[in-house]
Amino acid sequence: MTITSIYTSDPDGVDPALVPYQMLYNGTKIPAIGLGTFGSDKYSAQEVGEAVRGALRIGYRHIDCAAVYGNELVIGSVLHDALAEGLKREEIWITSKLWNDKHAEADVIPAFEKSRTELRLDYLDLYLIHWPFPNHHAPGVDVNSRDPHAKPYIHEEFMKTWRQLETLVDRGLVRHIGTSNMTIAKLKLLLRDARIKPACNEMELHPHFQQEELFDFVRANGIVPIGYSPIGSPSRPERDRTRDDTVDVEDPVIVHIAERLGVHPAIVCIKWAVQRGQVPIPFSVKRSQYLSTLRAIVGEPLTDEDMQAIAAIDKNCRLIKGQVFLWESAKDWEDLWDLDGEIAQ
Ligand SMILES: NC(=O)c1ccc[n+]([C@@H]2O[C@H](COP(=O)([O-])OP(=O)(O)OC[C@H]3O[C@@H](n4cnc5c(N)ncnc54)[C@H](OP(=O)(O)O)[C@@H]3O)[C@@H](O)[C@H]2O)c1
Repeated sequence: MTITSIYTSDPDGVDPALVPYQMLYNGTKIPAIGLGTFGSDKYSAQEVGEAVRGALRIGYRHIDCAAVYGNELVIGSVLHDALAEGLKREEIWITSKLWNDKHAEADVIPAFEKSRTELRLDYLDLYLIHWPFPNHHAPGVDVNSRDPHAKPYIHEEFMKTWRQLETLVDRGLVRHIGTSNMTIAKLKLLLRDARIKPACNEMELHPHFQQEELFDFVRANGIVPIGYSPIGSPSRPERDRTRDDTVDVEDPVIVHIAERLGVHPAIVCIKWAVQRGQVPIPFSVKRSQYLSTLRAIVGEPLTDEDMQAIAAIDKNCRLIKGQVFLWESAKDWEDLWDLDGEIAQ
């Protein structure tokens, strides 16, 4: 992918050639920031689609999609328009993800084809396994509900799914494959057994949840970390909130830096993320927000002192705990995250 386009329709947009990038292990560049598209049950598919349109017009070139977000059809029509208006396919980076109820060998390719067709693209840049568990939950269910068929991580099963993703690369339908919501223990097994290595791992990353060990592990293994909920997901659904959750954009260190720079604290979170070396994918349907975010990462960087001060405010506060993916014998959400280095069964 060459990131050299000057396609921007809006005079206040950003030249995409100025947007930083990360390099994947095969030398391909991924834009160092993307637009998230999960409407959190709050924003409609149409609103998200219009945000994608607006974001492409102001210089975003990376869109983070997923089948489960329920809006790929609308986003596909926006991408189709943008390509018809002169944006080149090779200038955009489009990610999608395989949902948990499609891990069975026979389901992977049809699920991928549904996403690719809805997005109206010949190929995707990145296809991720959204969660390492084949555990489904109905949209909008209560956090305490359990899928009676839910299972713990079974590596042999996961590899069957991964092998299907590898065939998509062989067939030129997807350029890179990767993982999401993985742990070091699970990634070690995948790196041992994969024919095609994961290029990216999408993981929760924000100042109050820096995941230093996993972050260092993926980078040491040539995997680019894509950081979701980079602002601390202030609009996440009620089911993803607990009383102990902390709020990144209210942290005194973040607020202090934001006041000095005259920006919203969200901007400080995003600048920190890009400078640290992860690829944040902030969500917004508000033009003023996604524009200020993109402008910020081509502007003045945070100082070394700012970066050190933010490094020190990690609160190990995971927001997206994944309770709805637990199997019946699991104790609690921590079983999903292999905290002692062992894969919970
Ligand atoms: N792989 C996975 O399992 C996974 C899980 C979760 C998310 N994701 C991806 O990550 C994306 C982002 O995560 P997220 O939506 O949870 O959280 P986020 O990006 O941390 O937070 C988004 C919210 O922050 C506010 N915001 C955004 N830009 C702002 C700005 N410039 N100034 C002030 N406020 C701003 C908006 O709130 P208001 O709308 O209230 O204005 C917006 O809804 C998702 O859309 C999705 O693509 C992936």
